[in-house]
Amino acid sequence: MSLKKRFLVTMALPYANADIHLGHLLEAVQTDIFVRFQRLRGHEVAFVCADDTHGTPIELSAARRGITPEALIAEAYENHRRDYAGFDIGFDIFYTTNSPENRRYAELIYQNLRRGGLIIEKEIDQYYCEHDRRFLPDRFITGTCPRCNASKQYGDVCEACGATYNPTELIDPHCVICNGAPVMRRSVHFYVELNKCEAFLREYINREGVLQDDMRNFVTTWINEGLREWCISRDGPYFGFAIPGTKDKYFYVWLDAPVGYISSTDRWCGETGRSVDDYWSSACDAEVVHFIGKDIVYFHTLFWPVMLKYSSFKLPGRFFIHGFLNIRGEKMSKSRGTFILARDYLGKIGHPQAAEFLRFFYGSKLMPNAEDFDFTAEELLNRANTTLSNNIGNLHHRTAVFCDRSFGGAVPDAPWDETIAAEVEDAAAAIEGHFERGEYKLAVERIHALGNRGNKYYQDGRPWESIKSDPQKAAVVMVTCVNLTKALAVFLKPIVPSISGCIERKLGVTLAWNDYAFSLRNMKMGPTEKLVRPLEKADVEPLFGAAANEPKADAAAGQIDSDYFNKVSLQVATVTAAEPVPKSSKLLKLLIDLGTEKRQIVAGIAAHYTPESIVGKQIVVVANLKPVKLFGELSQGMVLAAKNADGSLAVVTPERAADAGAPVA
Ligand code: 2FM
Ligand code: ZN
Repeated sequence: MSLKKRFLVTMALPYANADIHLGHLLEAVQTDIFVRFQRLRGHEVAFVCADDTHGTPIELSAARRGITPEALIAEAYENHRRDYAGFDIGFDIFYTTNSPENRRYAELIYQNLRRGGLIIEKEIDQYYCEHDRRFLPDRFITGTCPRCNASKQYGDVCEACGATYNPTELIDPHCVICNGAPVMRRSVHFYVELNKCEAFLREYINREGVLQDDMRNFVTTWINEGLREWCISRDGPYFGFAIPGTKDKYFYVWLDAPVGYISSTDRWCGETGRSVDDYWSSACDAEVVHFIGKDIVYFHTLFWPVMLKYSSFKLPGRFFIHGFLNIRGEKMSKSRGTFILARDYLGKIGHPQAAEFLRFFYGSKLMPNAEDFDFTAEELLNRANTTLSNNIGNLHHRTAVFCDRSFGGAVPDAPWDETIAAEVEDAAAAIEGHFERGEYKLAVERIHALGNRGNKYYQDGRPWESIKSDPQKAAVVMVTCVNLTKALAVFLKPIVPSISGCIERKLGVTLAWNDYAFSLRNMKMGPTEKLVRPLEKADVEPLFGAAANEPKADAAAGQIDSDYFNKVSLQVATVTAAEPVPKSSKLLKLLIDLGTEKRQIVAGIAAHYTPESIVGKQIVVVANLKPVKLFGELSQGMVLAAKNADGSLAVVTPERAADAGAPVA
């Protein structure tokens, strides 16, 4: 065993306005496997994470739901902790960036950048809404894209053509809160002059082991293109930390987000009697390892090292950067029923080992590169059954049952097969290297091969025959297979800890890495449990929505013609009165004007709109829906609203004033 090392391991801090989905879990499992592997080898690992709680999108989500940002992040915190726990992600701490510790470190890092002469101030033109009395950052403003003329684009990037621009370049800008036209105002902002650090950054990203090859080239290109100044301030109101010494300026969320890595460590150290300097001081001997997705490489490899350097914190020693997760070859999509949340995955798959199967699926695909990869139910099924059930599970079960029947539930007293022991020794060295380098896919391939080898050895040994003619020969086969199973449990433990735990219970041990070596004979074992119950097609079918269960080639069958669409009568209506529906937290009763008639509609928008905020608005309704009664109230139609990823709703309104009753087509 090499000398004991100390690691500080992180994964990206999830935004507090989104639910944990299969993409988050890919990264969480990738990180957790590394952490468990290092712990298994006896190294000391701090695994820290937190919710990323600040910034405009969170403020907007909270506003849409009519709650405070604090309430929103508190709710997310509970959900996130529960979701990660469901997949055995073994954090030492899961904290929040909205903490006193994080404020302190963010201020410290900012002051040190200032002292280092890296911060400049510039006065710039920015949109301001006189109605809402606030500056409008990127996501608070929409307008027409200056490049492709697509309407309703945000102030920073056009989703239609991908162009990035300054909010001031938008054509016909509007405030997203009141839809009014903003005015231009001057405002002072703070910038980090990243170009002053070019030599340092070039040297840093070329340090041995810091970046994967594919990523080093990428980051080098960015540096070659010229490092731009980074704006780290936002005008108030902003949900975040006020910048000391300013009036109403706040740190941009991406300044305080990565600081959450340090502040969460600090919190954990305080709680457990440790010193944060042992993990983050530039002089300490810990290694900081970050797991991130390829979308946030710029922040982590260019901004973050500069922030750390100027405060004498430890620079990250290694980045593992993964690609995106696709579902059936495409981006996750709500309309295709393939946006799979962590809680839905667990809730819908009718198998108690569903979480372990996902861990194994990811483990068997991950490599230290940023290529995207694909999730399909068929492959999940295949990986779980081929390796875990039919191979390792089978070897474990036939060995355990044979020992129960023929050796009274004990590992018999006999020597093991030295050839197999030596093969395990070789495999251990290879698998250890694979885990260390993040080549989990190769580790799994080797584990699978070893399992196959064990099953073949069992089969060729024919213990069911030799037990009668030459019991000692059968005993050798059993001793060898029990020890081989133990080695497999060690190798699998970082990936599927519960399945390995089942073998540990049987053997009455807690396995560490070196326990792969053959050591057991003449020993009583515990009761036999089935390691894995096969995953059935029917178990995974409920995972995808009805839409996704249609084969892709049939997508055309889901299309409708205009006659079909014309059966739906959509009309503009003006809301003339609104009130809550008694005993319901979700429903509002709306009185609407359709020009030629007035009607009552009951809409499930009470969590997102107060009666005052909806009265006077023009909305779009389905006018020919069969009337129904909801909570005793007549509802004559349906209000159209967009549902966001976080569950919040935005009621659809005509882009400019329209006649009450005007048909929408
Ligand atoms: O991209 C994201 O999901 C961010 N919330 C990641 C932050 S990682 C770190 F810098 F905090
Ligand atoms: Zn406004």
